[in-house]
This record gives sequence, C-alpha cells and structure tokens, in this order.
Amino acid sequence: ADGDPAAGEKVFQVCRACHQIGETAKNAVGPELNGLFGRHSGSVAGYNYSDANKNSGITWDETVFREYIKAPRAKIPGTKMTFIGLKDDQKIDDLIAFLKQFDAD
Ligand code: HEM
Repeated sequence: ADGDPAAGEKVFQVCRACHQIGETAKNAVGPELNGLFGRHSGSVAGYNYSDANKNSGITWDETVFREYIKAPRAKIPGTKMTFIGLKDDQKIDDLIAFLKQFDAD
C-alpha cells in the first residue's frame, strides 16, 4: 500500500519522544532512525541497545518493520522500547513512507 510521507511525519510525532531522524539526528532514549531500512537491528554506533534488540537477527525491511511496530515486545521479546505499538495499517504505511525519506540511498 502507498503511504503519504507528510501524514507519516505526523505519525512520527509519537516516536519523537524517544527517536530523532534527519541530518542533525542523535541517539536519544532510542537510537537515531536514519537509514533504517536495510540495516541490521542494533547496529547504530554509540547506542546502548538491549541484548534482545542487538541479537534479534533482524534486518529491517518493510515486512519486519510492520510486524515490529504493531507489537514491539512481541516481535523482540525483552526489548527496552516501551512503546505499545501502532495498530492502524494506513498510519504504518504513512510512517514507512516518511522513514524512507531518510534512507541512505
Ligand atoms: C528501538 C522505531 C517509538 C524507544 C527502535 C527500533 C526501531 C524503532 C526500528 C530498533 C532500531 C535498531 O535496531 O536500530 C520506533 C518507531 C516509533 C518508536 C517508528 C514510533 C512509532 C518509541 C518510543 C520510545 C522508543 C515512543 C520510548 C518510549 C526505543 C528504545 C529502543 C528503540 C529505547 C532500543 C530498544 C532496545 O535496545 O531494546 N525503535 N520507535 N521508541 N526504541 Fe523505538
């Protein structure tokens, strides 16, 4: 499904409590989320991940991200991301479209 990056920016407001994204992004409560799709879980330099996140074996793509963001603690048991999850498929599509604007390539 096609997401709307502008709508996704609004969805990302809830993530901003813990995550930064964009040119000036730094690690905060959570790791910065630039270039998310294609990177291995737990791979942002300088961020102190839980073992659960670091060792999940996940490479972030749309499919696994969709599963994760619906129920983070089900997808990665033991994660320290205390976020209940996002249920609405359209909002997730929009969020993915927003996040993809910050991919490396
Ligand atoms: C980790 C996305 C909301 C705190 C992550 C990861 C992703 C992500 C993809 C894994 C990153 C990696 O492996 O490099 C999101 C999105 C959110 C959101 C899209 C909004 C829909 C939040 C909120 C908080 C939070 C609200 C704080 C209450 C964390 C923490 C981690 C994390 C602490 C590290 C987990 C660990 O090491 O176990 N997030 N997140 N996130 N997030 Fe979020």
